[in-house]
Amino acid sequence: MAWRCIELPVLVDIRELITCRAGLATGDVGRITDAALAWEGERVVWAGPAGDLPASLASEQTISANGRLVLPGLVDAHTHICFGGWRADEFEKRCRGVSYQQIAAGGGGILRTVEQTRAADPETLFEFARGHLDQMVQLGVTTVECKSGYGLSVADELKILRVYSRLQKEHDVNIVSTFLGAHTVPPEFSGDRSGYVDLVCDVMLPAVAEEDLATYCDVFVEDGAFSADEARRILRKAKELGLGAKLHVDQLGDGGGASLAAEMEAVSADHLEYTNDEGIRRMTEAGVVPVALPLASLYLRQPPMNARQWIAAGCEVAVATDFNPGSAPSYHLPLAMMLACTMNGLTPSESVLGATRVAARAVGLSDDLGSLEPGKRADFCVLDSRSLDHWLYHFRSNQMVSTYIGGKMVWSLS
Ligand code: NIG
Ligand code: FE
Repeated sequence: MAWRCIELPVLVDIRELITCRAGLATGDVGRITDAALAWEGERVVWAGPAGDLPASLASEQTISANGRLVLPGLVDAHTHICFGGWRADEFEKRCRGVSYQQIAAGGGGILRTVEQTRAADPETLFEFARGHLDQMVQLGVTTVECKSGYGLSVADELKILRVYSRLQKEHDVNIVSTFLGAHTVPPEFSGDRSGYVDLVCDVMLPAVAEEDLATYCDVFVEDGAFSADEARRILRKAKELGLGAKLHVDQLGDGGGASLAAEMEAVSADHLEYTNDEGIRRMTEAGVVPVALPLASLYLRQPPMNARQWIAAGCEVAVATDFNPGSAPSYHLPLAMMLACTMNGLTPSESVLGATRVAARAVGLSDDLGSLEPGKRADFCVLDSRSLDHWLYHFRSNQMVSTYIGGKMVWSLS
């Protein structure tokens, strides 16, 4: 037999392969018991029952999963990982009953982090964010959507997005960058909000597009942040420049944000704790992915988004961490997935889909990742648990054993 120099590894002895492949019934994760998974370079070439493994693949390099579960690499579809410092003192105040809005009105909240982020040099920000990504990989996370929004000046927004661009090159994790210049109005524009929206549209967005620093543009639509009309203007300009739309909506009150997301053809709308029935219907029709952020609801003691209403409307729900130093100071996606069950009402299977295939849709990468089937990226994690249900039910220390990104093992327990 001719010797082949192409590396074609095969993972065998997989007790359950969770494929999350397309075309299954709602909530079905596409389990294959006693499975094998083969990939070539960065892409999956075969996934199925071990007994059906083609002979041509059986002779290639074999790795044992030692009877564990294998699932698609987790996709965290909503984070703000580049920030200049923590806000544990605000957490302490919130525990005493001071609200997130009261803290923000007193100059705390997002603006505190803006101050700290502006003061930080790019190297420090890079190292801090890289440390978070390293930890996320150990939790099975292989793709992370990363927002700017703690700079709020041309130079500081670009500084954050350049950190993401460097991480994209130097870290194994797949990074999706989102420009969130419209996170809040910075202090120097406090008497001139329309001047700040002008700056976002006329200077920041063109600079971001010119350097190709972001795939999406996001706007925080809320009382105290930006109005629906301001969001329309910003997202239209973003679209002209080739950036897709994402939105933070209906987090602290019903601002009609879900309908706005449908109108703007956003790829996702996130938070949605207060969305009304009309918003659910319009987003479902428009195919906008709703993203549940249970950690933010938990930390802010907000009523959680009701995922069952969305599923009843025929809409799949993504799950993400919203990792940031204020409303969701945790990058623990499996924890968010467990909370998506207990707080939002997803089943464990729906929650796993929400952090894989549906999350991939929420970042516009569903052709490339989010499931394990031929042609998709070989991004996956090996999980030591008796079942998926058991994993999210008996929540304990990290159950991941190893993480692979683009076919390469990037982390392993031993
Ligand atoms: O997604 N909602 C707006 N932004 C963040 C919170 C940011 C912060 O508190 O620093 C969020 O919850
Ligand atoms: Fe957020």
